[in-house]
Amino acid sequence: MTARVVLGVSGGIAAYKACELLRRFTESGHDVTVVPTAAALEFVGAPTWAALSGKPVATDVWTDVHAVPHVHIGQHADVVVVAPATADVLARAAHGLADDLLANTLLTARCPVVFAPAMHTEMWEHPATQANVATLRKRGAVVVEPAEGRLTGADTGKGRLPDPAEIFELVLGVLERGADATQDLAGRKVVVSAGGTREYLDPVRFLGNRSSGLQGYALARAAAARGAHVTLVSANVSLPDPAGASVVRVETTEQLREAVVAATATADAVVMAAAPADFRPTAVSDAKIKKADDGSAPAIELEQNPDVLAEISHHRARSGSVVVGFAAETGDATGTVLDLGRAKLARKGCDLLVVNDVSGGAVFGSADNEAVILGADGTAVEVARGSKAALAHIIWDEVARRFAD
Ligand code: CTP
Repeated sequence: MTARVVLGVSGGIAAYKACELLRRFTESGHDVTVVPTAAALEFVGAPTWAALSGKPVATDVWTDVHAVPHVHIGQHADVVVVAPATADVLARAAHGLADDLLANTLLTARCPVVFAPAMHTEMWEHPATQANVATLRKRGAVVVEPAEGRLTGADTGKGRLPDPAEIFELVLGVLERGADATQDLAGRKVVVSAGGTREYLDPVRFLGNRSSGLQGYALARAAAARGAHVTLVSANVSLPDPAGASVVRVETTEQLREAVVAATATADAVVMAAAPADFRPTAVSDAKIKKADDGSAPAIELEQNPDVLAEISHHRARSGSVVVGFAAETGDATGTVLDLGRAKLARKGCDLLVVNDVSGGAVFGSADNEAVILGADGTAVEVARGSKAALAHIIWDEVARRFAD
């Protein structure tokens, strides 16, 4: 799909990162019109935007007036992305000002609009900014939560522009959903766990598994694109942080349990896409375990880890919350994949179980997935082979339906 993308750039230091975002759009064949503010041009000049987009750029409404750009650009866009969005541009958009070309474009656009704010923590947290963000979200705009980390100076905090690659993925998600790009998870708090836990034998060795974290990250991205407040509990995943998600890094199942239980206290939905190790060594050696001269190997004694999914399902922190588990099954003498899935759904006590048939080959690390989503209410939604992003959206559709019930 080739889309007409309007990239609004406002005047923050992160404007340089918008160059990479622009490249990603143009290199994947999209038609991009860049609309920088005057302040953005103080950071990155018009020649850069013109060269990277292959089009002239204007910031005021007085250039090429015969083409009525202040109306035309917004009217003909498939998506408008403002990255970085400063506190000033959020304020002007929230109040409907029309004092430059970008503000006019935002008023005339009827397509999905995505704001990726970047500013200092104090400005982001100021009640005025928060009220403006709430107004824009209420009107259906996607306002991505800024990332935490190093800001312009030596200071750190919330306010960084998310990774441009992740903003790009989020916008593609919004474009794919088109008219359905509703903010149906706006105001919802969701928790997603992703990756595989590690259980240490000594400071350098661990028992782990092959979970790549791709499905969990796709779930976090999809939820953020639909307006949810996302906490991603990430176990040993080497993927960039999804735009808008607040990421808690863990290593072991016990740490994952702690992080998930803490985040669940206020969550509307929890999706356990992680593969927590079921067992851990009974003892962890403080020192690296050495090879014995006689050629013998140490015996490893294991004990069971807590079952996080069963715990949060059976002891709901909030009534009415929706809990989703995953199951990788092969089927055996006792039952088919779906029989085993149904039994697991009942045993774990969750509302939905996403069952992968892994008998034909692993889904680990693959970009694709197919599944059946079983509901505790007896439903079974078959999801044909497709991207993990597509499956993620179908899972959130099922969750959102249960919110509505
Ligand atoms: N899970 C969990 N805590 C664990 C293990 C698994 O919360 N210690 C969650 C996973 O995140 C996933 C689901 O449970 O959502 C997967 O369950 P699985 O490990 O397949 O179930 P088990 O009860 O261990 O069943 P099996 O004997 O088939 O492995």
